[in-house]
Amino acid sequence: MIKKLTIQDIISMKKNGERISMLTAYDASFAGLIDAAGIDMVLVGDSLGMVLLGYNSTIPVTMEEMLHHCRAAGRGVKRAVLVGDMPFMSYQVSQNEAISNAGRFMKEAGCDAVKLEGGTEICDTVKAIVKAGIPLMGHIGLTPQTASQLGGYRVQGRDADSARRLLQSARDLEAADVFAIVLECIPAQLSEAITRMVSIPTIGIGAGKHCDGQVLVTHDMVGMFEKFNPSFVKQFAKLAPQIKDAVADYNKEVKNGSFPAEEHSFNMQLDVQSLLED
Ligand code: KIV
Repeated sequence: MIKKLTIQDIISMKKNGERISMLTAYDASFAGLIDAAGIDMVLVGDSLGMVLLGYNSTIPVTMEEMLHHCRAAGRGVKRAVLVGDMPFMSYQVSQNEAISNAGRFMKEAGCDAVKLEGGTEICDTVKAIVKAGIPLMGHIGLTPQTASQLGGYRVQGRDADSARRLLQSARDLEAADVFAIVLECIPAQLSEAITRMVSIPTIGIGAGKHCDGQVLVTHDMVGMFEKFNPSFVKQFAKLAPQIKDAVADYNKEVKNGSFPAEEHSFNMQLDVQSLLED
Protein backbone atom coordinates (compact mmCIF):
# COMPACT_ATOMS: atom_id res chain seq x y z
CA MET A 1 0.00 0.00 0.00
CA ILE A 2 1.51 3.33 -1.11
CA LYS A 3 1.44 6.05 1.54
CA LYS A 4 0.21 9.38 0.19
CA LEU A 5 2.46 12.32 1.07
CA THR A 6 0.89 15.23 2.94
CA ILE A 7 1.65 18.95 3.05
CA GLN A 8 3.14 18.35 6.52
CA ASP A 9 5.51 15.74 5.03
CA ILE A 10 6.71 18.34 2.51
CA ILE A 11 7.32 20.92 5.25
CA SER A 12 9.12 18.29 7.38
CA MET A 13 11.44 17.47 4.47
CA LYS A 14 13.01 20.94 4.78
CA LYS A 15 13.41 20.49 8.55
CA ASN A 16 15.07 17.09 7.95
CA GLY A 17 17.37 18.44 5.23
CA GLU A 18 15.75 16.23 2.57
CA ARG A 19 15.51 17.79 -0.89
CA ILE A 20 12.07 18.02 -2.48
CA SER A 21 11.37 17.06 -6.11
CA MET A 22 8.50 18.46 -8.16
CA LEU A 23 7.59 18.10 -11.85
CA THR A 24 4.63 19.20 -13.94
CA ALA A 25 2.05 16.77 -15.34
CA TYR A 26 -1.19 17.46 -17.13
CA ASP A 27 -2.64 14.00 -17.69
CA ALA A 28 -2.99 10.64 -15.98
CA SER A 29 -0.30 8.80 -17.96
CA PHE A 30 2.50 11.32 -17.34
CA ALA A 31 1.38 11.88 -13.74
CA GLY A 32 1.43 8.11 -13.18
CA LEU A 33 4.98 7.75 -14.55
CA ILE A 34 6.21 10.72 -12.51
CA ASP A 35 4.50 9.50 -9.34
CA ALA A 36 5.88 5.97 -9.78
CA ALA A 37 9.40 7.40 -10.15
CA GLY A 38 9.10 8.84 -6.64
CA ILE A 39 8.67 12.57 -7.36
CA ASP A 40 7.27 14.27 -4.23
CA MET A 41 4.92 16.83 -5.80
CA VAL A 42 3.08 16.88 -9.13
CA LEU A 43 2.24 20.38 -10.34
CA VAL A 44 -0.53 20.82 -12.87
CA GLY A 45 1.03 24.08 -14.01
CA ASP A 46 -0.64 26.68 -16.19
CA SER A 47 2.43 26.03 -18.38
CA LEU A 48 0.05 23.51 -19.95
CA GLY A 49 -1.24 26.45 -21.98
CA MET A 50 2.07 26.59 -23.81
CA VAL A 51 3.36 23.02 -23.86
CA LEU A 52 0.03 21.25 -24.34
CA LEU A 53 -2.58 23.65 -25.70
CA GLY A 54 -0.38 25.63 -28.09
CA TYR A 55 -1.00 29.13 -26.68
CA ASN A 56 1.84 31.66 -26.89
CA SER A 57 1.69 32.38 -23.15
CA THR A 58 -0.11 31.21 -20.00
CA ILE A 59 -2.51 34.18 -20.09
CA PRO A 60 -5.38 32.53 -22.05
CA VAL A 61 -5.57 29.45 -19.78
CA THR A 62 -9.01 29.13 -18.16
CA MET A 63 -10.26 27.64 -14.90
CA GLU A 64 -12.14 24.95 -16.85
CA GLU A 65 -8.95 23.92 -18.70
CA MET A 66 -7.02 23.76 -15.43
CA LEU A 67 -9.69 21.72 -13.64
CA HIS A 68 -10.00 19.30 -16.58
CA HIS A 69 -6.24 18.59 -16.54
CA CYS A 70 -6.03 18.46 -12.72
CA ARG A 71 -8.74 15.79 -12.69
CA ALA A 72 -6.83 13.81 -15.33
CA ALA A 73 -3.44 14.13 -13.57
CA GLY A 74 -5.07 13.26 -10.24
CA ARG A 75 -6.14 9.89 -11.64
CA GLY A 76 -2.46 9.02 -12.12
CA VAL A 77 -1.15 10.14 -8.73
CA LYS A 78 -0.97 7.77 -5.76
CA ARG A 79 1.85 9.16 -3.57
CA ALA A 80 2.77 12.69 -4.60
CA VAL A 81 1.14 15.89 -3.38
CA LEU A 82 -1.03 17.19 -6.27
CA VAL A 83 -0.83 20.97 -6.73
CA GLY A 84 -3.15 22.87 -9.09
CA ASP A 85 -2.03 26.19 -10.56
CA MET A 86 -4.50 29.09 -10.44
CA PRO A 87 -4.74 30.65 -13.92
CA PHE A 88 -4.50 34.35 -14.73
CA MET A 89 -7.52 36.35 -13.49
CA SER A 90 -8.86 33.52 -11.33
CA TYR A 91 -7.60 35.17 -8.10
CA GLN A 92 -7.00 38.85 -8.93
CA VAL A 93 -10.56 40.18 -9.28
CA SER A 94 -11.77 39.73 -5.70
CA GLN A 95 -10.92 37.72 -2.60
CA ASN A 96 -14.28 35.95 -2.73
CA GLU A 97 -13.68 34.84 -6.31
CA ALA A 98 -10.14 33.75 -5.40
CA ILE A 99 -11.39 31.61 -2.49
CA SER A 100 -14.13 30.00 -4.55
CA ASN A 101 -11.80 29.28 -7.49
CA ALA A 102 -9.11 27.87 -5.18
CA GLY A 103 -11.82 25.73 -3.57
CA ARG A 104 -12.83 24.32 -6.97
CA PHE A 105 -9.31 22.84 -7.37
CA MET A 106 -9.86 20.91 -4.13
CA LYS A 107 -13.57 20.02 -4.45
CA GLU A 108 -13.92 19.38 -8.19
CA ALA A 109 -10.42 18.29 -9.20
CA GLY A 110 -9.09 16.50 -6.12
CA CYS A 111 -6.01 18.69 -5.66
CA ASP A 112 -4.16 18.64 -2.34
CA ALA A 113 -3.06 22.28 -2.68
CA VAL A 114 -3.09 25.21 -5.08
CA LYS A 115 -0.41 27.65 -6.27
CA LEU A 116 -0.67 31.27 -7.31
CA GLU A 117 1.81 33.85 -8.58
CA GLY A 118 2.74 37.04 -6.74
CA GLY A 119 4.38 38.40 -3.60
CA THR A 120 3.59 41.14 -1.08
CA GLU A 121 0.85 42.65 -3.28
CA ILE A 122 -1.21 39.43 -3.24
CA CYS A 123 -0.77 38.51 0.44
CA ASP A 124 -4.26 39.61 1.60
CA THR A 125 -5.74 37.21 -0.94
CA VAL A 126 -3.27 34.51 0.12
CA LYS A 127 -4.34 34.91 3.76
CA ALA A 128 -8.03 34.69 2.81
CA ILE A 129 -7.50 31.47 0.81
CA VAL A 130 -5.43 29.84 3.56
CA LYS A 131 -8.00 30.93 6.18
CA ALA A 132 -10.63 29.09 4.13
CA GLY A 133 -8.61 25.90 4.74
CA ILE A 134 -6.83 25.61 1.39
CA PRO A 135 -3.09 24.81 1.41
CA LEU A 136 -1.35 27.35 -0.80
CA MET A 137 2.01 27.53 -2.53
CA GLY A 138 3.48 30.95 -3.44
CA HIS A 139 5.45 31.77 -6.61
CA ILE A 140 7.80 34.78 -6.92
CA GLY A 141 10.64 35.95 -9.16
CA LEU A 142 9.76 35.50 -12.81
CA THR A 143 5.99 35.12 -12.70
CA PRO A 144 4.95 34.21 -16.27
CA GLN A 145 1.37 35.55 -15.90
CA THR A 146 2.77 39.07 -15.40
CA ALA A 147 5.91 38.67 -17.51
CA SER A 148 5.09 41.72 -19.63
CA GLN A 149 5.12 43.93 -16.49
CA LEU A 150 8.48 42.42 -15.56
CA GLY A 151 10.07 43.28 -18.91
CA GLY A 152 9.61 39.83 -20.44
CA TYR A 153 10.89 36.39 -19.49
CA ARG A 154 14.09 37.50 -17.73
CA VAL A 155 15.99 36.91 -14.52
CA GLN A 156 14.49 38.88 -11.60
CA GLY A 157 16.20 40.28 -8.48
CA ARG A 158 19.39 41.32 -10.24
CA ASP A 159 19.63 44.77 -8.61
CA ALA A 160 19.42 45.67 -4.91
CA ASP A 161 15.89 47.15 -5.09
CA SER A 162 14.32 44.23 -6.85
CA ALA A 163 16.24 41.73 -4.66
CA ARG A 164 14.94 43.56 -1.55
CA ARG A 165 11.38 43.36 -2.90
CA LEU A 166 11.72 39.61 -3.43
CA LEU A 167 13.11 39.10 0.10
CA GLN A 168 10.13 41.05 1.47
CA SER A 169 7.69 39.08 -0.66
CA ALA A 170 9.12 35.79 0.66
CA ARG A 171 8.80 37.09 4.24
CA ASP A 172 5.20 38.24 3.64
CA LEU A 173 4.18 34.98 1.96
CA GLU A 174 5.58 33.01 4.90
CA ALA A 175 3.66 35.27 7.30
CA ALA A 176 0.54 34.70 5.17
CA ASP A 177 0.99 30.94 5.79
CA VAL A 178 1.85 29.52 2.39
CA PHE A 179 3.38 26.05 2.84
CA ALA A 180 6.10 26.52 0.18
CA ILE A 181 7.35 29.12 -2.29
CA VAL A 182 8.43 28.61 -5.91
CA LEU A 183 11.42 30.83 -6.76
CA GLU A 184 11.64 31.25 -10.54
CA CYS A 185 14.62 32.70 -12.40
CA ILE A 186 16.42 34.59 -9.66
CA PRO A 187 20.16 34.66 -8.85
CA ALA A 188 21.41 31.66 -6.86
CA GLN A 189 22.75 33.95 -4.10
CA LEU A 190 19.31 35.48 -3.59
CA SER A 191 17.50 32.14 -3.52
CA GLU A 192 20.08 30.88 -1.00
CA ALA A 193 19.34 33.88 1.24
CA ILE A 194 15.56 33.40 0.94
CA THR A 195 15.90 29.67 1.61
CA ARG A 196 17.86 30.37 4.81
CA MET A 197 15.48 33.14 5.86
CA VAL A 198 12.15 31.27 5.66
CA SER A 199 11.16 28.15 7.59
CA ILE A 200 8.98 26.80 4.75
CA PRO A 201 10.44 24.99 1.70
CA THR A 202 11.61 26.94 -1.34
CA ILE A 203 11.25 25.17 -4.69
CA GLY A 204 13.56 26.56 -7.37
CA ILE A 205 13.32 26.75 -11.14
CA GLY A 206 16.28 28.59 -12.60
CA ALA A 207 17.15 29.62 -9.04
CA GLY A 208 20.30 27.59 -8.37
CA LYS A 209 21.09 24.66 -6.15
CA HIS A 210 20.47 26.11 -2.69
CA CYS A 211 16.68 25.86 -2.76
CA ASP A 212 15.04 23.16 -0.66
CA GLY A 213 13.62 21.57 -3.79
CA GLN A 214 13.53 21.84 -7.57
CA VAL A 215 10.78 21.94 -10.18
CA LEU A 216 10.92 21.75 -13.97
CA VAL A 217 8.33 21.58 -16.71
CA THR A 218 8.39 17.88 -17.62
CA HIS A 219 8.01 18.49 -21.36
CA ASP A 220 11.17 20.66 -21.18
CA MET A 221 13.25 18.21 -19.17
CA VAL A 222 12.39 15.19 -21.33
CA GLY A 223 13.03 17.22 -24.49
CA MET A 224 9.49 17.16 -25.88
CA PHE A 225 8.90 20.90 -26.19
CA GLU A 226 10.97 22.25 -29.06
CA LYS A 227 9.76 25.87 -29.36
CA PHE A 228 12.46 27.08 -26.94
CA ASN A 229 14.71 25.63 -24.28
CA PRO A 230 15.47 27.90 -21.31
CA SER A 231 19.15 27.82 -20.28
CA PHE A 232 18.28 26.62 -16.75
CA VAL A 233 16.64 23.44 -18.08
CA LYS A 234 18.65 20.24 -18.16
CA GLN A 235 17.27 17.86 -20.76
CA PHE A 236 17.41 14.44 -19.11
CA ALA A 237 16.14 12.91 -22.37
CA LYS A 238 15.55 14.08 -25.93
CA LEU A 239 12.19 12.56 -26.74
CA ALA A 240 11.06 14.84 -29.58
CA PRO A 241 13.48 13.38 -32.19
CA GLN A 242 12.67 9.84 -30.98
CA ILE A 243 8.92 10.48 -31.31
CA LYS A 244 9.38 12.00 -34.78
CA ASP A 245 11.49 9.01 -35.91
CA ALA A 246 8.91 6.54 -34.57
CA VAL A 247 6.06 8.39 -36.31
CA ALA A 248 8.02 8.60 -39.59
CA ASP A 249 8.69 4.82 -39.43
CA TYR A 250 4.99 4.14 -38.78
CA ASN A 251 4.02 6.37 -41.70
CA LYS A 252 6.48 4.57 -44.00
CA GLU A 253 5.26 1.10 -42.96
CA VAL A 254 1.58 2.01 -43.35
CA LYS A 255 2.28 3.40 -46.82
CA ASN A 256 4.38 0.43 -47.97
CA GLY A 257 2.05 -2.16 -46.40
CA SER A 258 4.58 -3.72 -44.00
CA PHE A 259 2.48 -2.72 -40.97
CA PRO A 260 0.44 -4.47 -39.61
CA ALA A 261 2.36 -7.76 -39.90
CA GLU A 262 0.94 -11.23 -39.06
CA GLU A 263 1.73 -10.80 -35.36
CA HIS A 264 -0.34 -7.60 -35.18
CA SER A 265 -3.44 -9.26 -36.71
CA PHE A 266 -6.18 -11.52 -35.30
CA ASN A 267 -6.33 -14.64 -37.45
CA MET A 268 -9.24 -17.02 -36.75
CA GLN A 269 -10.86 -20.06 -38.33
CA LEU A 270 -13.70 -18.11 -39.89
CA ASP A 271 -15.22 -19.00 -43.22
CA VAL A 272 -16.04 -15.47 -44.27
CA GLN A 273 -16.66 -16.57 -47.86
CA SER A 274 -19.68 -18.67 -46.84
CA LEU A 275 -21.01 -15.77 -44.73
CA LEU A 276 -20.84 -13.59 -47.79
CA GLU A 277 -22.78 -16.17 -49.77
CA ASP A 278 -25.58 -16.45 -47.14
O1 KIV B 1 3.12 26.58 -14.68
C1 KIV B 1 4.14 25.98 -14.30
O2 KIV B 1 4.50 24.93 -14.81
C2 KIV B 1 4.88 26.59 -13.20
C3 KIV B 1 6.23 26.03 -12.90
C4 KIV B 1 7.18 26.43 -13.94
C5 KIV B 1 6.70 26.40 -11.54
O3 KIV B 1 4.41 27.51 -12.60
